[in-house]
Amino acid sequence: MTILVTGGAGFIGANFVLNWVSQMDEMIVNLDKLTYAGNLQSLSSLKGDPKHVFVHGDIGDRPAVQKLLAEYRPRAVLNFAAESHVDRSIHGPQGFVDTNIVGTFQLLEAVRGYWQGLEEPGRMEFRFLHVSTDEVYGSLKTDEPAFTEGHQYQPNSPYSATKAASDHLVRAYHHTYGLPVLTTNCSNNYGPFHFPEKLIPLIIVNALAGKALPVYGDGQQIRDWLFVEDHCSGIRRVLEAGTCGETYNIGGWNEKANIDIVRTLCGLLDELAPAITRNVINQATGKPVEHYAELITYVADRPGHDRRYAIDARKIERELGWKPAETFESGIRKTVNWYLANQEWVKGVMDGSYRDWVALQYGASNA
Ligand code: NAD
Ligand code: DAU
Repeated sequence: MTILVTGGAGFIGANFVLNWVSQMDEMIVNLDKLTYAGNLQSLSSLKGDPKHVFVHGDIGDRPAVQKLLAEYRPRAVLNFAAESHVDRSIHGPQGFVDTNIVGTFQLLEAVRGYWQGLEEPGRMEFRFLHVSTDEVYGSLKTDEPAFTEGHQYQPNSPYSATKAASDHLVRAYHHTYGLPVLTTNCSNNYGPFHFPEKLIPLIIVNALAGKALPVYGDGQQIRDWLFVEDHCSGIRRVLEAGTCGETYNIGGWNEKANIDIVRTLCGLLDELAPAITRNVINQATGKPVEHYAELITYVADRPGHDRRYAIDARKIERELGWKPAETFESGIRKTVNWYLANQEWVKGVMDGSYRDWVALQYGASNA
């Protein structure tokens, strides 16, 4: 048996692949375009493992996906591949339309053809799982209840609008063609291998370097945080037991204001990697840093910044018996410890050398 994942060199995809290989006795084929967000160093521990096959390619390349499906005959396709950073989508939405909308469409077409050609019982058992986000639901007011699966779609950024479009395409392929699809809408993830353009890894990396810790606007925006391995276990559970055509919200009931996240990270770093003993110098003043919170800097807000997200995860808990294993306190401590223990991974990202890994591992023609 085999499953095919797309975007498995990104943050969540890599965690999913690593967890899958360590826990399941089933091969995983990993199709990834290796954009700036794809990092094969995150998967370096799998080198030589026959259960993981990496394929460098684009979900929007329908013939290439068709070939892959014909070759590996997966029982499921899980689509993690996307352009995922809201700020980048504001600066340049084109890539988001190309991958999140057109890419998902091409992938769906390839999968539809493959699925229609399957014999029973493979055809009945096949699943297409689409990994999506809570951002498709828009922004909540302070006193509004958390997003349920029935919440109206109200995407506010180019990123969330393209994810919403992809969710609609996936839904339509079930409704129109009967493709056995599952969609998950998850809240903000954090954990190992998170690219330091996103809030939590950015704060950790900047603090250790004595750089400003940028907080957008008043810092009172609320996100609902889930440890990445819990997201992965939720996806596995939906793949295993979810009802085709249904969507499942995944979240850990951990609403936090951004400024509280930043202060929590500063406190953990003060405890685990004191600035004084590491000789951290404030890059703006040239003076030694005593407490990392000294580096907090309020900056201009993100245009169209959603105020609050919150996931109502009762459906997946009730129907599929899923619950997160980590509390926010245990997950964030693990995360800070991971970044402290994996400075080489961080360095590779910061100096760009993680991109050389492709050439080193797969030859110059793949780089
Ligand atoms: P990421 O940006 O870290 O990784 C995306 C991966 O997709 C990269 O490896 C990249 O190379 C690959 N990719 C991009 N375009 C591709 C294409 N055209 N073909 C093949 N591969 C391509 O993203 P992430 O944070 O790991 O998010 C994964 C998925 O989960 C996304 O669909 C995202 O919308 C969703 N999601 C993310 C979060 C979060 O907090 N990060 C929360 C909920 C849902
Ligand atoms: O909600 C799920 C979404 O979470 C995913 O769909 C996205 O792919 C993922 O990137 C994430 O989106 P956010 O925009 O919420 O994540 P980000 O880490 O970029 O920002 C988190 C919050 O922190 C947000 O309110 C903006 C704020 N922020 C972010 C950065 C990078 C800052 O205040 N300063 C920063 O420097």
